This record gives sequence, C-alpha cells and structure tokens, in this order.
Amino acid sequence: MPDLLTRLQESVGFVRAKISLNPVIAIILGSGLGPFADALEKATSVRTSDIPHYPRSTVEGHSGELVFGKIHGKDILAVKGRVHYYEGYSMEQVTYAVRMMHFLGIRSLIVTNAAGGLNPRFSPGDLMFITSHLNYFFDNPLRGINLDSLGPRFPDMEEDYDRAYIDMAEAIALELKVRTQRGVYCAHSGPTYETKSEVKMFQKMGVDAVGMSTIPEVIVARHQGMRVLGISCITNLGTGISATPLSHEEVTETANRVKESFQNLISEIIRKM
Ligand code: HPA
Repeated sequence: MPDLLTRLQESVGFVRAKISLNPVIAIILGSGLGPFADALEKATSVRTSDIPHYPRSTVEGHSGELVFGKIHGKDILAVKGRVHYYEGYSMEQVTYAVRMMHFLGIRSLIVTNAAGGLNPRFSPGDLMFITSHLNYFFDNPLRGINLDSLGPRFPDMEEDYDRAYIDMAEAIALELKVRTQRGVYCAHSGPTYETKSEVKMFQKMGVDAVGMSTIPEVIVARHQGMRVLGISCITNLGTGISATPLSHEEVTETANRVKESFQNLISEIIRKM
C-alpha cells in the first residue's frame, strides 16, 4: 500500500477533478445532522465509496459523502457520514477526511456530534459548544511517525477549541434565540453507551457531555493548525440520569427535532467565519 501522503494526494486529486469550488471552511455532520448538507447551494456531492483509499462507513443511516456547495456565497465542504472508531477502523482511517482537508485548503473546521448530557442543567435538544475535551479512546491519531510537513511532533492543545469562534457562535445563538450551553466533551471508543458508574466517574471529572467521536478529528485538525469549533447536540441524558434506556432511535429523533435551529445556527456561524 502507498504511504499516507501518497494516498491522500491520490484521494484529493480524484476529488479536485470533480469540483470547481475552493472551500476554506468544512463541517463534519454528526449522527442525524446530515440533512444540513441538503441546504447547500450549487452542490456537488462526491460519494466517499468512489474516492480511492477512503475508508468505507458501515453504520446504518450514514451515507458517506463529501458535499461541496455554497452558503451565503461562501464555499463549504460538508462531510456527511463520518467514519467511527467503533466500526473497527484505525485512528488513521477515522481522521482520513480531516487529513484530506489539509490538501483541499481547509483552514476552519466545524465538527458536530450527537452526545449524551451529563451536566444536570442540560436538556435533550440543547446544543453545546465544546470548550475542551477528555480523550478516553486511549489512542491518539498522531501516534507513530510524525508527518512533519503537516504539523509538529508535539502539538500544543491549549487552544483546542477556538475561543473567538465560541464567543462569536454564542452571540449568534443568543440573537437566534437558540438554547446553547458550553462544556467539556469526553469520548470513548464505544459502541456501548456508558455504564452508570462511568457516567458518575465522568461527572466527577467535570465532563458535561459524552460521545464516541470528534476527538480524533479535532486532534488531527489542530495538528494541521486549523481553527476548530465543536458543537454537540445533546440528544439524550446519560445512563442513570435518563429515565429510559438509551437507544440510537432516541439519538436520531432528538437530532431530527433540533435540525432546523441547528441549521440556522450553523449557517449564520459560517456567514461570520
Ligand atoms: N453516550 C455516548 N454517545 C452518545 C450518547 C451517549 O449518551 N448519545 C449520543 N451519542
């Protein structure tokens, strides 16, 4: 198999030949948040299954597509159907799209996910701006030989989620009267939801929302020097807090319910980015 840089260049070459847009902003759409891509104007969609070397997604309801289109006159890349670690992929595969973004010229990444709320003040349907994260994958996409041309060996994670973006996004949410929170996101490999004991532990550690994605992509984005805005859609309350057992249906139902306010918020954020 060719090395990662060669594979990335082949993948990006394939995509470039199909598109005429030059986005500098990208968004990764989490569970149930895919419909945002349908709102893009003058869109060209590239199926990830057609892209050489791109990992295949196996999860129901996750059609893998890179959608290039416009919002408020700005070129955007939307990644629909992310590849998850719990599907059995390596960290390199999980972050492949973000690596491609570097070669596509992306400078700002909005990363979204569905997450369980652990903060007792949160309600399902809230949108949470991620201020920092706790990496409970016990793995890191930068482990191994460093690609010096892409970023440093030991990247600083102080400004992991861009503070100016959070302030700007919060002001927009206030104007749009969309209920938002700020908080710390924690993710683990999944695919099991957390046990009651894990929820208690995470709460004690200061975690506000928990999920199974996002952190690997953010690590790679920061390695490449991209500015990151992270938004969790709180689709349910965590195990033991929620009165009912957790299910993927509840997650997609809530994400579907907030679809409109999520889309309005994101498109206004993009306008100001
Ligand atoms: N835990 C982990 N991942 C999730 C949850 C949760 O409660 N809800 C949506 N994704």
